[in-house]
Amino acid sequence: MPANNVIAEIKNLHTNFYLREGVARAVAGVNLTLEKGRTLGIVGESGCGKSVTAHSLMQLVPSPGKIEEGEILFYPPGSTTEVIEIHKLEPNSKEMRAIRGNQISMVFQEPMTSMLPVRTVGAQIMEAIILHQQVSKAEARTRAIEILSRVKLPNADRIVDTYPFQLSGGMRQRAVIAMALSCNPNLLIADEPTTALDVTTEAQILDLLRALQQDFDMGIMYITHNLGVIAEIADDVAVMYMGKVVEQTDTSSLFFKPLHPYTQALLRSIPQLDDVMARTGKNKRLETIKGMVPDPYRILPGCVFHPRCPQFMEGICDQIAPEIIEVEPDHIVRCHLYTAPAEAHTAKDARL
Ligand SMILES: Nc1ncnc2c1ncn2[C@@H]1O[C@H](COP(=O)(O)OP(=O)(O)OP(=O)(O)O)[C@@H](O)[C@H]1O
Ligand SMILES: [Mg+2]
Repeated sequence: MPANNVIAEIKNLHTNFYLREGVARAVAGVNLTLEKGRTLGIVGESGCGKSVTAHSLMQLVPSPGKIEEGEILFYPPGSTTEVIEIHKLEPNSKEMRAIRGNQISMVFQEPMTSMLPVRTVGAQIMEAIILHQQVSKAEARTRAIEILSRVKLPNADRIVDTYPFQLSGGMRQRAVIAMALSCNPNLLIADEPTTALDVTTEAQILDLLRALQQDFDMGIMYITHNLGVIAEIADDVAVMYMGKVVEQTDTSSLFFKPLHPYTQALLRSIPQLDDVMARTGKNKRLETIKGMVPDPYRILPGCVFHPRCPQFMEGICDQIAPEIIEVEPDHIVRCHLYTAPAEAHTAKDARL
């Protein structure tokens, strides 16, 4: 058994999509640990496998996708011996339905699809409460109002009877978070929950999640492509590229000592106020990462990032797949710059 504060572990997860064009290896050997009271940020460009990792954890991978290999372990709180092997549960099984929306809850990437337009906000929250807890309709309504006020929706007793389309984007996102929190989950997965919102509303939602995390001691898996949001919310960060975690550490180490050339490139592509100011004078452009994410059906030899890597070492990066190594305590990276044999280091030194 892992340490007491661990809620869930993902070990060597492989999730594939079997399509006419070929097999898309959406998640290709991911390891992650989610802990009580901590937020793990998952960051990476579009298509790198963030959502599919989250959907695998909830047993919600849509067809023709399939968890092909690996383990997803959930440790229910209150027990020091029980382990639920989520990867072995059928998506529609009673056991999985008892966990999903109850112990592990998710705020989906598309807010409008999380709520049915034809039912009131309150009815949808009450349904989640009644499904998982033995309470009367009246009690479920009281709890729905309580949770709507917890997410700082004004006049929760009125909002409970509104339809999702009657709310603004920010209010609707709060209602979706309220629905996800209605059964006090141990783990909340938030998939780009603020992408469609303006920065002020985004900041309020991030504050709200932090406050709710303290109250509930929840673990949060926060998915975003925005490193600025990661800096605000995450304790630890996993950087994903083409279905793999290429670097993982605590948030301040990632920002102050990024190791992987992909992480370094992502950091160079965030606008800084200095750059914005400088750009007006010097016409300075923000750096982008050269090249495109390769086609997901291709199996690239060597490191998945090598075609775009500014520190590419011929004969090594295009031939040998780098293993994960722990460069410093709790700072792991998948890159030959830190693992390659002696000649690779010589090549690197020559370039420095
Ligand atoms: N429904 C699907 N059918 C076929 N392939 C899919 C499907 N969903 C995901 N994939 C494959 O899995 C890969 C990873 O998708 P995923 O949705 O996890 O990306 P993401 O990191 O969440 O991207 P984004 O930032 O755009 O949300 C995609 O590049 C695609 O190849
Ligand atoms: Mg996604």
